[in-house]
Amino acid sequence: MAARTDLGVPLSTLCPKYLHSNSTSHTWPFSAIAELIDNAYDPDVNAKQFWIDKTVVDGQECLSFMDNGDGLNHAAIQKMLSFGYSDKTVVKGVAPIGIYGNGFKSGSMRLGKDAIVFSKSKNSSCIGMLSQTYLAEIQAEQISVPIISFANTNKNKLSVQEQDRVSLQHILRYSIFKTQEDLLKELQAINPPLCPRKTGTRIIIWNLRRTSVGELEFDFQKDRYDVRIPSDINESGSDTFQHQSSSYIPESVYSLRAYCSILYLKPRMQIVIRGQKVQSQLIAKSLASIRKDHYKPTFLPKRVPITFGYNTKSKEQYGMMMYHKNRLIRAYERVGCQMRGDRKGVGVIGVIECNFLNPAHNNQSFDETNQYRKTMTSMATKLEEYWKQMYYSKNKENPNSTTPVEDTMKRPDQIWLQCDDCSQWRKLPDGIDCNKLPEEWFCRLNPDPQFSLIVLRQNVGCLLITSIPALSLDQVNFECNVIDEILEQFLSERDSVKEEEQWN
Ligand SMILES: Nc1ncnc2c1ncn2[C@@H]1O[C@H](COP(=O)(O)OP(=O)(O)OP(=O)(O)O)[C@@H](O)[C@H]1O
Ligand SMILES: [Mg+2]
Ligand SMILES: [Zn+2]
Repeated sequence: MAARTDLGVPLSTLCPKYLHSNSTSHTWPFSAIAELIDNAYDPDVNAKQFWIDKTVVDGQECLSFMDNGDGLNHAAIQKMLSFGYSDKTVVKGVAPIGIYGNGFKSGSMRLGKDAIVFSKSKNSSCIGMLSQTYLAEIQAEQISVPIISFANTNKNKLSVQEQDRVSLQHILRYSIFKTQEDLLKELQAINPPLCPRKTGTRIIIWNLRRTSVGELEFDFQKDRYDVRIPSDINESGSDTFQHQSSSYIPESVYSLRAYCSILYLKPRMQIVIRGQKVQSQLIAKSLASIRKDHYKPTFLPKRVPITFGYNTKSKEQYGMMMYHKNRLIRAYERVGCQMRGDRKGVGVIGVIECNFLNPAHNNQSFDETNQYRKTMTSMATKLEEYWKQMYYSKNKENPNSTTPVEDTMKRPDQIWLQCDDCSQWRKLPDGIDCNKLPEEWFCRLNPDPQFSLIVLRQNVGCLLITSIPALSLDQVNFECNVIDEILEQFLSERDSVKEEEQWN
């Protein structure tokens, strides 16, 4: 546990310069943002939504990140702002992405010099500051992080405990929030009127990183609803840029919206960028001519599934999509024949979850071990096999066609949509026009009749279960007709009440 000084500001034993050097692992700025998204996504926080915005505080441009997860108390925020604490475990089968206890620090300090965290947990609220400017101004030799915490109340003043007074003074003096009211406003933003979950965390980063000519590294103008990296900012030597063959850079490299849409293999959390929802993609199910294959390396006891298919949106974005514990590590990584430039393998996407490989600290590549090299060689062979299969079967079907295979692949085999209410992914019946899908979609709009019954049963099940705390939803058999019977009783009860009301 970090020591505390007489001032009541917890101290770490690291020197402030470490904050900067530690952040340099994120050569590509979206890699830093992804760390903050991962933290909200991880099962200990389990946020349903995550908001990314650009805002101005005290005349300064800032980035803000907010989630409606479980929030933090004093002890937890202290760990969050310190190095090397990570006690995340598997919750209900969901494995955490975070393991090192470093992502928040490296990510936030990559984006800007200073960060402040506001958090509301069930019983308390707290505020903590990790600020390079502050540490420089107080000429700190070790990293110290002012933290204040207090019970949740509706009062317009912070009821700060005696031992947090100095921290509060430091936050008001050295952050961009100059009054207690300013701080309270940010805390209140965590539970806006229409949000039913009252806990969450809000991170504001200021003194944002600038380029060598003094411009912000992000472009907020070109697209009002996106955060983009201008094309001339390859100066950072990011390997995410360098890895891509020079001719074509995938949108996910420079558009945060595009990157967020593929960040998770099975997306659960909704991400909202500058007020507009990101349309997450179920990448492995959005392809055309899907074939399932397996990879069975000698060093693993089990086979690992791989999905191959054609990209239906852009035939120029192709290659392996490599995930680790649900999180994207490498995107559009061209392998084998795809690197030879003879049109072989063009348009083909392969999706694999490589939980058996070790991601690097910045989560943007895998450690270059023998196992990694073997995996890549095997991917290349399998991808070429798939491509050949497709190529020859299309040629057989249409021997006279001169159109390349990748140009005929326009429709995904299946259409899956995520419900804006419960975040579940649902498969739509065949024959739906994928170009005419609504912006917002809910389970109840599913035209599959089989499906509406299941949803109805589930909803009723949920309702009933809230009155039996010992029972969890996974224990209920939705096929059984007990729920239907109760539902019938409920409906007839409701109708008779309605009739009575009409009489009175
Ligand atoms: N948005 C958040 N809401 C609640 N708790 C958070 C949030 N972000 C971070 N934390 C807490 O802070 C701790 C430190 O986060 P950090 O990203 O630095 O490390 P990590 O996620 O544990 O590991 P990794 O370095 O692999 O990301 C987390 O373990 C988590 O307990
Ligand atoms: Mg993390
Ligand atoms: Zn739903």
